[in-house]
Amino acid sequence: MNVLGIETSCDETAVAIVTDTGEIKASLVLSQIAEHAVFGGVVPEIAARAHLDHLDTLISGALSDSGLSLPEVDGFAATCGPGLIGGVMIGMMAGKALAASQGKPFIAVNHLEAHALTPRLGEDIPFPYLLLLVSGGHSQILVVEDVGSYRRLGTTLDDAAGECFDKCAKIMGLPYPGGPNVEIIARNCPDPEAARARFPLPRPMTGRPGYDFSFSGLKTAVRAHVGKLPEGELKAEDISQLACALQEAIAFALIDRCENAVQDFQARYGKGAFVVSGGVAANAAIRRSLRDLTERYEMSFHAPPIQLCSDNGVMVAWTGIERLRRGMTSHLDFAARPRWPLDPDAEPRHGAGVKA
Ligand code: KG4
Ligand code: ZN
Repeated sequence: MNVLGIETSCDETAVAIVTDTGEIKASLVLSQIAEHAVFGGVVPEIAARAHLDHLDTLISGALSDSGLSLPEVDGFAATCGPGLIGGVMIGMMAGKALAASQGKPFIAVNHLEAHALTPRLGEDIPFPYLLLLVSGGHSQILVVEDVGSYRRLGTTLDDAAGECFDKCAKIMGLPYPGGPNVEIIARNCPDPEAARARFPLPRPMTGRPGYDFSFSGLKTAVRAHVGKLPEGELKAEDISQLACALQEAIAFALIDRCENAVQDFQARYGKGAFVVSGGVAANAAIRRSLRDLTERYEMSFHAPPIQLCSDNGVMVAWTGIERLRRGMTSHLDFAARPRWPLDPDAEPRHGAGVKA
């Protein structure tokens, strides 16, 4: 069985074809970074137009890379939310049109579920597992009970972790997207301890009970530190120290909240598995800290390969496989959802908006 997956919910136009044995037969990702970089962030209208311009070519490219003809595709999956609605509609309509023209099933994919299930493509991770989902739009801790069944333990009260990386990077004069650039610059910091002492940053919510995050205070603190640096062009050495301190503060806050969740999870389910996914899961320092945490609790640790952390078509196609083999297909009148929580019963959090 194989599924073609389409991802257009943010600034990556991506198409992939994946089989039920986890073989990636094709994966094309077209990043729009250059188009948005001049604005320092994603401009929804530009994103939607760019998806429209490139999607057809990517679909034909993926088919040709896979060696499959259109009638040989068993199902068509597309991200139908949450995300920037203009882009979501473009990918969703393309997926529906392909499914209708071929008389094959259509699978409406929740982008967050796609991040959540990606690690199962390469590894046998049984349900339930504990998930830290950290991306540009979301920071959540969830129990993944099954495909389509989630229990949210915690979420952010304001900014998402990736958003914090991106906003702080902008304040530090680093190019968009901020997360990868902060990580690269932080590697130049020779003495993390000195960086921590010179740039003390808050570690929001840590030490408190519960599983929620808050990252907006970090951005304010970074702005204050940058404001105190000498006028003029920021020095590479200062920025590498600040980037290092920031990365460490974000990692610390994530680990603190995850530790509470690990204890809660293990009390109910035993040792189990811990999964991290989403764009921020590409960060080596954060992966390392999470691995250490899970080792302390004798939990298995899983993270997707780096290229599958940020948005891609494989995660959508794989979710299509997970759903198709359970008969969980969608009608062609499925409506795109700008907001689509994985756990609809979770209490909304003030200020979190679509990030809840
Ligand atoms: O999952 P993703 O591609 O898109 C969303 O669904 O939001 O995540 C993008 C986010 C951005 O905020 C980006 O700065 C962050 O992931 N990111 C990173 C790294 N690579 C991407 N953050 C920290 N370190 C990285 N290496
Ligand atoms: Zn994403």
